[in-house]
Amino acid sequence: MKKKNTDSENLQGLFQPTFGNRPEQYIGRDGVIEQFMEGLREPVGSRNRCTLFLGQRGMGKTALLLELSDRATKTGYVVARVTAHEGMPKAIIEQFQLNGSQYFNDEKRKMTGVTAGVLGFTLGLTFSEAAERQYGFRSKMSLLCDKLAEKGKGALILIDEVRTSTAMREVAAAYQELVGDKKNVAIAMAGLPHAVSSVLNDQVLTFLNRATKVELGLISTNLIRAYYERAFKTVGVKISDTLLDRAALATRGFPYLMQLIGYYLIQYTEEGGTVNRKIMDKVEKAAMSDMEDNVFKPILSPLSDNDLLFLKAMARQGDVVTTAKLQSALGKKGPAIQPYRKRLLDAGVIESPRRGELVFAVPYLAEYLLQDRN
Ligand SMILES: Nc1ncnc2c1ncn2[C@@H]1O[C@H](COP(=O)(O)OP(=O)(O)O)[C@@H](O)[C@H]1O
Ligand SMILES: [Mg+2]
Repeated sequence: MKKKNTDSENLQGLFQPTFGNRPEQYIGRDGVIEQFMEGLREPVGSRNRCTLFLGQRGMGKTALLLELSDRATKTGYVVARVTAHEGMPKAIIEQFQLNGSQYFNDEKRKMTGVTAGVLGFTLGLTFSEAAERQYGFRSKMSLLCDKLAEKGKGALILIDEVRTSTAMREVAAAYQELVGDKKNVAIAMAGLPHAVSSVLNDQVLTFLNRATKVELGLISTNLIRAYYERAFKTVGVKISDTLLDRAALATRGFPYLMQLIGYYLIQYTEEGGTVNRKIMDKVEKAAMSDMEDNVFKPILSPLSDNDLLFLKAMARQGDVVTTAKLQSALGKKGPAIQPYRKRLLDAGVIESPRRGELVFAVPYLAEYLLQDRN
């Protein structure tokens, strides 16, 4: 963050240009959300109940999982939200116990552990000592699902920053078995585009590949404009229609950039003041500098020199890049296009909206690549 002005801190709740936070107002993605919510209403095991959201940094994966968590909770699900790591199975169980316990407040403490022990629980969602000791993830999940079902609740697992790992294998296997046993369980995962493009062909990849895959795209700049208009009014920042258009269009629908531009606009305009072109220039500059550090650099740093050569040739072609034009731009001596094309598509740096055509997956990346110092 460039400048921190504590006076306006209380106003800054409207925009938080950081990763992994819950936005003050969730914008757009109605179709994506509805598809998943629809899945939760479908029978156990239906495909939309196991969804994988893919997108680059800043595209809003974590924010989407938070939104789904909220909505699912309102429609009768207890949610366990974790970030993929080796301790994930245990963390999932704990999350269910924590978030589900509120539905068991009415249960009286059992006098002896005997009958309760048979069911695997002592009080609420606390496992009996034996169950705790003897059971693994899958059995515990099975018990939890049954217990939650007594209260009419389903179990939704949300996994952020998904990747293949031993822990993920355990969760994937358990999920499939739980579905086989008709437990009311669903799973939504989010990850970078290359989370599923690894050449390793293991069980987890099969699981991820079978999930409904949703590539998160840009959000509507009309919706962003409407939110900006309301937000600036709320904090007493005046802005002309022209500059409001410019601010909304400058985001190009990229969620992180939408937060950055909104944040700096409020930060750089005094309270009760009016946004002018000079402020807008400064806002865009500051936002772009954060994009550079937090999006462009992390995307580009793992790439090879030839990858960069390919991307720069693409950037010079303008909006619509065709494979044919690209090959001739790189020249006969240039690297063969296909392997780079495939790798960069897999890595989610570029996309192919139509056969033979390529575009950058993140706005302003082309412009950034063409700057002198790159
Ligand atoms: N649909 C949305 N509406 C409003 N803000 C959003 C939306 N999606 C993401 N954001 C905001 O954009 C920023 C980046 O989102 P995040 O979910 O952290 O991205 P990712 O997990 O894909 O890297 C965060 O500040 C987040 O609050
Ligand atoms: Mg995230």
